[in-house]
Amino acid sequence: MNFKLLLTPEIYFGVGAVSHLPKVMQRFGTKSLWITGGASFDKLHQSRELQSYMNTQGMDCSIERLSGEPSTLFIDTIADKYRGMGIDCIVSVGGGSVIDAGKTLSALLGVEGSVEQYLEGIGNKEYVGRKTPMIAVTTCSGTGSETTLNAVVSKVGANGYKRSMRHLALMPNVAIVDPALTVTCPPSVTGNSGLDAFTQLLESYLSPTATSFTDSLVFDALLGMPKALKNAYADGSSLPDRTTVAYGAMISGLGLTNAGLGLVHGFASVIGGFYHIPHGVICGTLLPAIINKSVHKMIKDRKRYHTALNKMAKVGKLFGAQRGFGMVDYCLQLTNSLYDLAETLNIPKLGSYGMGMEDVEKIVTQTGHKNHPVKLELAELSEILSERI
Ligand SMILES: [Fe+2]
Repeated sequence: MNFKLLLTPEIYFGVGAVSHLPKVMQRFGTKSLWITGGASFDKLHQSRELQSYMNTQGMDCSIERLSGEPSTLFIDTIADKYRGMGIDCIVSVGGGSVIDAGKTLSALLGVEGSVEQYLEGIGNKEYVGRKTPMIAVTTCSGTGSETTLNAVVSKVGANGYKRSMRHLALMPNVAIVDPALTVTCPPSVTGNSGLDAFTQLLESYLSPTATSFTDSLVFDALLGMPKALKNAYADGSSLPDRTTVAYGAMISGLGLTNAGLGLVHGFASVIGGFYHIPHGVICGTLLPAIINKSVHKMIKDRKRYHTALNKMAKVGKLFGAQRGFGMVDYCLQLTNSLYDLAETLNIPKLGSYGMGMEDVEKIVTQTGHKNHPVKLELAELSEILSERI
């Protein structure tokens, strides 16, 4: 067995974990830059307690708000504003987009120039710099960005892109994952972000580069996800379910960092560059169709795809073990259950965001398979996308 384990941040997980934040911040200094999103964190009592603590300690904090996903313009503007200002640490409080923005800024405050220079497939500059310490505090469970070493930055439009900056410097120094902070996350975001986490767990589990190490973490995290996701969507205040989903999302970050992702994310990085569609919606709506097409292709050559099919069957069983079912039955149960899950969570199809059949060719010709266990032909990719428009 050979594998490389990439760094993980110092992690504080569980209900009440945010109480560690003041002490953790003080380790880095007194001047912090906070990146937050909407107002969901402001509404929580933990936010007010934190602000009064920081005031009594004489801590200086600047706040920048991000709406939507981080763009090249947002990152460059904030980096220019705070570069050389003696920021001791960056605190991102929010969902995956806010954490990605904070991670990127933690690398860029110490160097000149645009983030574009460091994006995969866009720039060609190697990052060399001293990062500003960064703390990721999650208020939404989804991307697992709190445990990954990449951050996604996009430019939307005709020549748009959605690309990663990837470097060890982007791994947060500290991740605080407190499920109690996610109770104000609205059902639609809970559903689509949760399906992003589920997709990341499943893709890293099925990846040919998965190891016993990643499988043990990832499969355990997958176990409770289907039920907890439905429950958290229906009742956002359920802390046990919020905890299961938050754990799944955090482990999905470790899974994708160490085992990679698959075709769903291959599609998502292309589509995200053309349209303002939430990443979780793209993943949630495409996942059933991609798994369905992949299963049907792989069962025609079971010997070759035995490992991936067995893993799919194992996940299929999580949706209900049936007497007398064999491997293929459980794989089909997985595909049917994923369609049901997307429907229960009311994940919209891509057409509702303006995508049309005329867009299929330009998307599928740019889509990569990443670490997907089976290679699908262009015609098959077109069928998948057409089905979910
Ligand atoms: Fe994702």
